[in-house]
Amino acid sequence: MTRALILGGIADANVLAAEIVRAGIDAVYSYGGRTRVPADQPLPTRIGGFGGVSGLAGYIKRERITHVIDATHPFAAEMSRHAIEACAETGTPLIALERAPWSKTPGDIWIEVSDVNAAAAALPEAPANVFLAIGRQHIAPFAAKPQHAYTLRFVDPPEAPLPFAADVIVSRGPFTFEGELEMLRTRGIAWIVARNSGGDGAHAKIDAARRLGLPVIMISRPQLPERLRVESVAEVMEWLDHRTCLGA
Ligand SMILES: NC(=O)c1ccc[n+]([C@@H]2O[C@H](COP(=O)([O-])OP(=O)(O)OC[C@H]3O[C@@H](n4cnc5c(N)ncnc54)[C@H](OP(=O)(O)O)[C@@H]3O)[C@@H](O)[C@H]2O)c1
Repeated sequence: MTRALILGGIADANVLAAEIVRAGIDAVYSYGGRTRVPADQPLPTRIGGFGGVSGLAGYIKRERITHVIDATHPFAAEMSRHAIEACAETGTPLIALERAPWSKTPGDIWIEVSDVNAAAAALPEAPANVFLAIGRQHIAPFAAKPQHAYTLRFVDPPEAPLPFAADVIVSRGPFTFEGELEMLRTRGIAWIVARNSGGDGAHAKIDAARRLGLPVIMISRPQLPERLRVESVAEVMEWLDHRTCLGA
């Protein structure tokens, strides 16, 4: 009997959870536990790390998981690597639900870098207003460039002091093009640092940057070993061998 494990993180994971419930499939939804109030979804949940590859492999066996769906954020590479290894070890089919990365379009001024340290190094030396559109766990390298005035945006208010002074916006996306234009203009932002997350929800800031002619330091996705990857909930449902009820 099918019993799926969804490794959650992206908004589509919640859409998938609803489809799985609608299809009558037994499943568990796992949260990493980074955000305080996970968005609503209807499946039974578990929260927090498994304890590495062996912890996840043990969970898969104990809970009789037959299918694993990696619907974590494209930058949550450690969890994805662990899922690949634990599924190989236990012989459990794995699929990743991952939207395509954004591509540069005419008018975009992107400086593409491989990681957050390279992003900090790519900022100019002259003081500027910088919007860091990255998670709080990744901001430390920017302390090396304290001359800039940073704006940060988080889903939850920061619990611990930040490694440098910054203006913090607390807000959960998705954000609109008009809203992002307004935010960038009123704060006089001259540089944006973003990660190539893909999807529509986070793209408004990139569109707004193009409109304003602002440079974006774009951090590429971490490299992962080869795995089965699809971009839509419908394809995951097909993989699970059930017809999706999307739009029904
Ligand atoms: N990275 C981001 O920018 C970002 C953005 C939006 C949402 N998220 C979500 O936030 C969570 C944590 O992200 P991260 O970047 O810290 O991930 P990560 O670096 O890949 O994972 C670090 C550790 O957190 C635990 N973990 C991560 N996702 C989990 C999940 N869905 N269920 C159970 N344990 C999980 C695992 O611990 P063990 O090794 O102990 O199993 C993993 O090794 C993920 O669910 C991710 O999708 C991340």
